[in-house]
Amino acid sequence: MKALSRRAFFTAVSMAVWLAAHADDLVERGAYLSRIGGCAACHTNPKGGAPFAGGREVPSPFGSIHSSNITPDPTYGLGKYSFADFTRAMRDGRALGDKPLYPAMPYPSYAKMDEADLRALFAFLQKGVTPVAKPAPANHLPFPFDQRWTLRFWQAAFAPRGSYARRSDRDAEWNRGAYLVQSVGHCGACHTPRGVGYQEKGYDESSDQFLTGMTDDHWFASNLTGDRGAGLGRMEKQAIADLLRTGRGGGAVVWGTMSEEVEETLRHLSEDDARAIAGYLKTLPPQRVAGVYEPGRVGFVPADGRYDGRSNTLGAAAYKGFCMACHGADGRGQPPAIPSLAGNASVLSEDAGSIIRIVVEGGRGPLVPGVPPPLQMPGFADTLTDAQLARTLTYVRQNWGNDARDVTTSDVSKVRSKIGR
Ligand code: HEC
Ligand code: HEC
Ligand code: HEC
Repeated sequence: MKALSRRAFFTAVSMAVWLAAHADDLVERGAYLSRIGGCAACHTNPKGGAPFAGGREVPSPFGSIHSSNITPDPTYGLGKYSFADFTRAMRDGRALGDKPLYPAMPYPSYAKMDEADLRALFAFLQKGVTPVAKPAPANHLPFPFDQRWTLRFWQAAFAPRGSYARRSDRDAEWNRGAYLVQSVGHCGACHTPRGVGYQEKGYDESSDQFLTGMTDDHWFASNLTGDRGAGLGRMEKQAIADLLRTGRGGGAVVWGTMSEEVEETLRHLSEDDARAIAGYLKTLPPQRVAGVYEPGRVGFVPADGRYDGRSNTLGAAAYKGFCMACHGADGRGQPPAIPSLAGNASVLSEDAGSIIRIVVEGGRGPLVPGVPPPLQMPGFADTLTDAQLARTLTYVRQNWGNDARDVTTSDVSKVRSKIGR
């Protein structure tokens, strides 16, 4: 009898220890997902806010929306959420009390998350995060976007349904990559073109619009399909994986909102997950084909819609004076710190908005621990006129084997007026 209860006692203790260790695993996994899913970044105010306490302004065409406090505080955070409530917020975009959420919170992507991952995230948010008793600031949206109830119609019309469906004709690594891109990674939130209702025009590879490029916050998030010009067609799988984790790879350096994305979120990807994502992207067939890159060709013969960079002497002169010291006479830059402009996918993209913006206001790559600090690209807002900028970028887009359409003075003026520079 005594022996039995002793055994029962030890069984109970080892169960408890096992459970605690297991719970730690769950919390640990949730912490990882919160980093690579952007919850940590987007739910923390970058101006010194407490982790997960919300208040970050998320830009949208309707105005900025503040992220919520998702710490376990019972009044202002998720303290009163059950796992079912949490699932509803993540999959259906409905917060406690059936409150519809703005799609600035990327629930159209998170809808595809596995239950196991949601459980891990929930465990982490409840047990691994310090509660903060502070409300997120109120939103100031113009009418009619301030009418939260209207989001119900948006959700009924546009929110996708269903979780990630494994493809049995693909291997485990491909499925892992597809799952991360489509759900946790929410890459489509920036990279997929949006329709009339601001809904993403596709949520997986079955759509020919999926990840073909989109402008948000006045940055063009490039085409991630296999286009050999403006897409990832010429970039090796490993280079893409490196780019995601360090901001540099295959001669490219990330910038704009992608720089923040790497700095705050994607640098936390495990090597295996980064390679799975890269591998999946490499299987997307070329779509929305734009500029062309043919190395070794010096200038183009203007025929059949080909562009001719040779006659652009103003652009050549400005390039020589203002850009060549860093990007080189051959346009090859000094990788890994200074990107090559020859064969650069963003330089060849259909939408020149991003390259206009970076030349106007400058920029820097992401700060990632363990990687040499990024170099600064100076801004030329006060040095070059709209016409000069347009000619310089046209020169860059039509030289060293690059072949993409002209950048016009009005393209430059439009971007400058939008960003107020
Ligand atoms: C791009 C920014 C962004 C990312 C990334 C993001 N969120 Fe959000 N989230 C928001 C915004 C903005 C809101 C508030 C929306 C509203 O007020 O309608 C929100 C609201 C929520 C809510 C509803 C809370 C409430 O009661 O108001 C939950 C839960 C939530 N997010 C969890 C997460 C989790 C978990 C992740 C990571 C997997 C995540 N979010 C990633 C922007 C983001
Ligand atoms: C907040 C918006 C945002 C999100 C989310 C985002 N990206 Fe990007 N991404 C951009 C922008 C803007 C660019 C163009 C600037 C650049 O090339 O660095 C870009 C560029 C890229 C490039 C090309 C880089 C180059 O220099 O050729 C790759 C590859 C990429 N993103 C992959 C991803 C993947 C994979 C995800 C999801 C895990 C993702 N992005 C999520 C905004 C985003
Ligand atoms: C002091 C060195 C320097 C000078 C001068 C300079 N750049 Fe840059 N450029 C950089 C660096 C560094 C980056 C990467 C910045 C980043 O990651 O945000 C960059 C990025 C770019 C990009 C984005 C490339 C990509 O990765 O897709 C373009 C386009 C560009 N520069 C064009 C120009 C043009 C045009 C000029 C002249 C008007 C110029 N640069 C002058 C250093 C320079």
